[in-house]
Amino acid sequence: MIFHLQSLLLIVMATLVPTFMIPTFAQLSHDYYDQVCPEALPIIYSLVKEAILHEKRIGASLLRLHFHDCFVNGCDGSVLLDDTPFFLGEKTAFANLNSIRGFEVVDKIKAAVDKACKHPVVSCADILAVAARDSVAILGGPQYWYRVLLGRRDARNASRDAANDNLPAPFFNFQQLLANFQTHGLNLKDLVVLSGGHSIGLARCINFRDRIFNDTNIDPKFAATLRESCPRRGGDNSLAPLDATPSKFDTTYYKALLYKKGLLHSDQELFKGDGWESDSLVKLYSNDPYAFAKDFGVSMIKMGNLKPLTGSYGEIRYNCRKVN
Ligand code: HEM
Repeated sequence: MIFHLQSLLLIVMATLVPTFMIPTFAQLSHDYYDQVCPEALPIIYSLVKEAILHEKRIGASLLRLHFHDCFVNGCDGSVLLDDTPFFLGEKTAFANLNSIRGFEVVDKIKAAVDKACKHPVVSCADILAVAARDSVAILGGPQYWYRVLLGRRDARNASRDAANDNLPAPFFNFQQLLANFQTHGLNLKDLVVLSGGHSIGLARCINFRDRIFNDTNIDPKFAATLRESCPRRGGDNSLAPLDATPSKFDTTYYKALLYKKGLLHSDQELFKGDGWESDSLVKLYSNDPYAFAKDFGVSMIKMGNLKPLTGSYGEIRYNCRKVN
């Protein structure tokens, strides 16, 4: 009897709690901006295109920004926040310092969408998700286009420690890479297909020096050429392409792995030629651009779903670099 009374009381209390006190867990959706700001997506596309025409690498940088956003406390625009007296942001974490770029393009997009929508309705986190997709489709062609889910809100804080703990390092071995992806709810296939992001862009000598001097599963001529611009000492910031076609989103990255020409140690860990499951995926993607395109889109959407802030959580920032 007592139990029944307690249950009844709980039900009555629950119905009396004002609805504004219950945070909503709204889902992301494809058509989130269709009513509130239909101009948003076309504006993002045209500004990404303009930026890529100006500098091809920026497409790679925008793709990486979305990845680094999502892997640190979810896709919440936290990577874009500058340090404040209350927190150290993610920009100075190991993987990001002197490395992540594209902030000016994001600022430009944000100003343009806010102007078109008359007020800030498009989050910085969504801008990153759309700009990443558009970059890939512009540099790779229409088969790399996928439908982004939208409706993320922006974080009100960021954490350098969380970025250091969560972003994978180029010296990681396969088990470390897989474990890192698994802590983000991603699996081996996601790891292999999302690493295909290295089909575009560049890396600094400091991130592949160890590989070209110490690794054994590297093509000797490939290593020797890289050592010219990345010597044992000095040249930390000299750049090399992540694959032979760094401005084209394609399957060249996977082909290179078959010939021990992965630039980063972490890249080559995906293909060791020892018959691991990841070997088969690398082989598949190396000669099936459609399988790569399809699976890349699926895994990007999965990555884009990492802990988004929705409903009454977070905010829509006025300026992507600062909390409101
Ligand atoms: C699997 C673990 C990963 C590791 C260890 C890793 C590591 C790195 C490193 C060290 C660089 C070069 C940074 C520099 O030298 O300044 C880089 C560049 C890049 N990464 Fe990754 N990455 C990983 C996964 C990914 C994923 C999942 C994506 C996207 C889906 C991605 C996209 C990129 C892009 C596009 C660049 C070039 C950026 C530019 O040129 O500005 N990476 N990554």
